[in-house]
Amino acid sequence: MPYKILFVCLGNICRSPSAENIMNHLIEEAGLNWQIICDSAGTSSYHVGCSPDRRMTSALINRGFRVNGEARQFEYSDFEEFDLILAMDKENYQNILSLDRQQIYGDKVKLMCDFAQNYATKEVPDPYYGGQKGFENVIDLLIDSCQGLLMYVKNQLKLN
Ligand code: 4NP
Repeated sequence: MPYKILFVCLGNICRSPSAENIMNHLIEEAGLNWQIICDSAGTSSYHVGCSPDRRMTSALINRGFRVNGEARQFEYSDFEEFDLILAMDKENYQNILSLDRQQIYGDKVKLMCDFAQNYATKEVPDPYYGGQKGFENVIDLLIDSCQGLLMYVKNQLKLN
């Protein structure tokens, strides 16, 4: 059974699809496509069915990443479906946990920046209403966090 990771933000059009695509890039490089599977979702339904944000997509393509995906909303069954659920910021984290009324799945839910190694930032900032620099910052943070995350998952899977 592959290890399944779900990245979650608010709209599922900027941060979490970026995390998913960056992580998939690292997974492919490591030859672990069959061992680790990624998906993403939003806590809101604002952009369900939409492609990733155009500004985010062009920033990612300029940095050599492919960008796939269509926005969907986080749903209760995701708690069971995924091994690890990564919130981009603390609001996402709280919104996810608030859906776990029986408090069964808390251990699966973590902040993306918990895996960052070179940044002290605790959250991936929402770039939606900012400028181009915000999107670049998201990519930098996510590359760093995804590298740490890959090491963590390899450890969990005893692949080192
Ligand atoms: P995301 O960014 O949560 O990283 O996908 C946002 C996308 C849309 C909105 C806010 C943040 N919005 O308010 O529509």
